[in-house]
Amino acid sequence: MNNDKLVSAKILVIDDDVNMMDVLSVVLRRYGHYVKTFTEPLSAIEELKKNKYDILLVNYLMTPVKGDKIVETVREFNKEIYIILMSIHKDLAPSIEVMQQLDIQAYYEKSNRFDNLIMLIQGGIKYIEQINKIKSMNLQLEHYLVDFAKILLQTVGAKDHYTEEHSRRVTLLADAFSKYLKLDKKQISDLQIAAAFHDIGKIGIPDNILLKTTRLTDDEYQIIKTHPVIAANIFSVSDIYKDIYPIMYYHHERYDGNGYPTGIKGKQIPLLARILSICDSFDAIVSKRTYKEGATIEFALSEIEKGAGTQFDPELAPKFISMVNNNIEYIEKIFSEY
Ligand SMILES: [Fe+2]
Ligand SMILES: [Fe+2]
Repeated sequence: MNNDKLVSAKILVIDDDVNMMDVLSVVLRRYGHYVKTFTEPLSAIEELKKNKYDILLVNYLMTPVKGDKIVETVREFNKEIYIILMSIHKDLAPSIEVMQQLDIQAYYEKSNRFDNLIMLIQGGIKYIEQINKIKSMNLQLEHYLVDFAKILLQTVGAKDHYTEEHSRRVTLLADAFSKYLKLDKKQISDLQIAAAFHDIGKIGIPDNILLKTTRLTDDEYQIIKTHPVIAANIFSVSDIYKDIYPIMYYHHERYDGNGYPTGIKGKQIPLLARILSICDSFDAIVSKRTYKEGATIEFALSEIEKGAGTQFDPELAPKFISMVNNNIEYIEKIFSEY
């Protein structure tokens, strides 16, 4: 592929100087670009809302609405379009500060020669190509991360099948609860990752303790209790997961301060760890183990209610109960399918 070749762009032009615009259109079309012209801003803005354009070419000095005002409106709904502001003389152009503030990428001083404009458009196309490349790289990276997470979960599953299934259910419960609480997008995604891996530290627990089907001795229980620290250590090596490992680290803390590993209490425990703790306990009560039968959802909810203010956050516990009651079919499905 020849990188110097000018690739065609979809360009929208707004200029109240009809003659200039006609000449401009002819030139741009000659270079293979798709061009649509507007003499007034309102219909141009409507068109930009309806259809995707690569480049907006807008005249600065127009009446009654100046080019920078038009750009301001466009930027409210479109941050991606490459904008070239035109003016008849550079003394009449807006300041660099205004151009930067409005994210105007280029300035063109009108003349009868269009070489400069063609160059600016070519620069714009290259810029758009770079942005698209970065976007697809980010998507690919996200895809790798999800894949890596699946491998990690399978790794836990190879050692302890219960932890793998429990983690899947806790993730679904945490996702439903965080959406019910209307948390923001980042909190929802952080909690989801933390829920999926909250017990990954069990990978560091010896099999004879982790997989024991009879009652644990006190010493064995002390070893099991190190799993949040091991999980946090595993994730602390990664920069992109830096907001995740505190959620894992504190998922066995109790609201009254009698939890582990640190014994912090109340709102000192990060919000997402308090949320995870409820989902985690709820699943542990409902799910069946080799040494115990699974309890009913009603029973598990009564335990959550009982633990409000001691084990669980007293504000979150009733909200969790309403979330389950309002989505009972979905919650039952989580336990029958996973
Ligand atoms: Fe745990
Ligand atoms: Fe757990």
